[in-house]
Amino acid sequence: MKAYILKNFFNMKEKILVTGGTGYIGSHTTVELMNAGYDVVIIDNLSNSNEKVIDGIEKITGKRPVFVKGDCTDLETLKKLFEDNPGIKGIINFAASKAVGESVQKPLLYYRNNLNTLINLLQLMPEYGVEGIVFSSSCTVYGEPDVNPIDETAPIKCATSPYGNTKQISEEIIEDYVASGAPIKSIILRYFNPIGAHPSGCIGELPLGVPQNLVPFLTQAAAGIRPELTVFGDDYNTPDGSCIRDYIDVVDLAKAHVIAMERMLNGQDHDAIEIFNLGTGNGLSVLELINAFQEATGVKVPHKIGPRRAGDIEKIWANPYKANHVLGWKAEADIKDTMRNAWQWQCNCNRK
Ligand code: WQD
Repeated sequence: MKAYILKNFFNMKEKILVTGGTGYIGSHTTVELMNAGYDVVIIDNLSNSNEKVIDGIEKITGKRPVFVKGDCTDLETLKKLFEDNPGIKGIINFAASKAVGESVQKPLLYYRNNLNTLINLLQLMPEYGVEGIVFSSSCTVYGEPDVNPIDETAPIKCATSPYGNTKQISEEIIEDYVASGAPIKSIILRYFNPIGAHPSGCIGELPLGVPQNLVPFLTQAAAGIRPELTVFGDDYNTPDGSCIRDYIDVVDLAKAHVIAMERMLNGQDHDAIEIFNLGTGNGLSVLELINAFQEATGVKVPHKIGPRRAGDIEKIWANPYKANHVLGWKAEADIKDTMRNAWQWQCNCNRK
């Protein structure tokens, strides 16, 4: 009988390392892994998150993941983690700097942090018997698509930021390492725009300082923390003039990581490296998202139209066919539920 059938029959789940696990997507993925019966070890340097997130994870799952405060760019730190936590079978790598604008100001920080983290993890995987790594990539690797919706065969365009370039280089590092004969597998997940928060209200997006992304700024404007949201341009070649994105609920996104890890550990993956676009397949404009929030919550978002933001892509949304039919994952959340969860999380943060 296949090992994975036995494991599932006896509910013997594996131990997974989640790097960047107190971050936005990392924390939501940790919840879904634990709900699926996995043991989780988190390593995070808390440079862009807070250890209190672990309390939120425990409130939701009833269990506390192992937490190691540490920097994945330090090889000895990672070696100690694997020695102290034997039996890790898979890694989900979220640990990375991810602000597009900041990456233009501090390129070396981004290349050092994002690439050294990945290289260290890949180097240690064979030494410690880690079978597979799920890599957190981004639709930013496609640049401005020639056509939408966009599938995994679309050309990779020249990166428009060091952040985007680190994602492209990381994918190439994984491909070259596997091609060299390294005894590991990888699934690369290219996210579109993650938004929302866990329906429990216990975890969500915790931007430090002024939010760069749309939804946290939107909810802070709705809460009166920011005077108003600026819509960066309404003169694009789109129906209402504002940019179009594929907004994916963070819990749907988290579930895709569990399915990807299962696929590798159960030997269901077809190739040593598989790449999937994770999106809903629906494009929404900025103004449509604002309307969806207002209709879902009954709360007005004070906003104005401002100039375009340099580097913004006009429109991009996913063709999720491969994720739906090969990975066996599909985005399910309704955008209004996602907006309500984002608002609930903002209100909970305001009370803290
Ligand atoms: C979305 C839309 C803005 C803020 C980036 C990265 C991507 C991923 C997600 C990490 C755009 C508009 C935004 C505001 C606005 N990062 N906007 N007013 O730029 O699509 O993607 O973040 O994984 O890799 O590239 O996301 O949320 O910044 O912007 O009008 O105050 O909202 O112009 O059209 P983006 P975003």
